[in-house]
Amino acid sequence: MGTILVAYASRTGETLAIAELIAEGVRLAGHKAEVRSVAAVKTAAELAGFDGYAFGSATYHGEMLPAMKTFLFLAETAGLEGKPGGAFGAFGWSGEANDRIHQTMKHALKMSVAPDPLRLKSSRLGGGLQMAQEYGRQLARKLETQAGSSKGAEEAP
Ligand SMILES: Cc1cc2nc3c(=O)[nH]c(=O)nc-3n(C[C@H](O)[C@H](O)[C@H](O)COP(=O)(O)O)c2cc1C
Repeated sequence: MGTILVAYASRTGETLAIAELIAEGVRLAGHKAEVRSVAAVKTAAELAGFDGYAFGSATYHGEMLPAMKTFLFLAETAGLEGKPGGAFGAFGWSGEANDRIHQTMKHALKMSVAPDPLRLKSSRLGGGLQMAQEYGRQLARKLETQAGSSKGAEEAP
């Protein structure tokens, strides 16, 4: 069993609601999930040591929230290279934060990201619950696949 950190930046609670559903999906897939506000993560040590990560921010004025930018600089020093990851965030119409976080996780943090960020505007939309939970399950499967392949590599002569 692995543990996925679901870290979010949210102003009015929509991104937090999506984070909770992603965590539920991870748990339904038989793993552990911790949901934390990015503002509560102060050191790289608090961020390191998880088996997978989902980072999410709401989009305001075409950008992620400032707290998520600070958090991603911290993540750069946490040794997340190769770890499974995904991105999400509530939005109203354009949702730039989701793509930017996903690209940062892939290119700057060199994480093993899901093919796409979760493009869900709100957990309250029809099908939102299922979409967010499925993203959590997808991350859990990615974690299992990577754990399986690194185990195989360790066992190889
Ligand atoms: C002042 C303001 C600016 C916003 N700018 C954007 C934007 O550029 N693109 C977008 O997709 N949504 C935008 N939104 C919509 C928010 O992303 C949306 O309300 C979202 O659900 C907020 O999530 P949160 O509750 O996690 O903060 C904006 C909302 C406000 C109030």
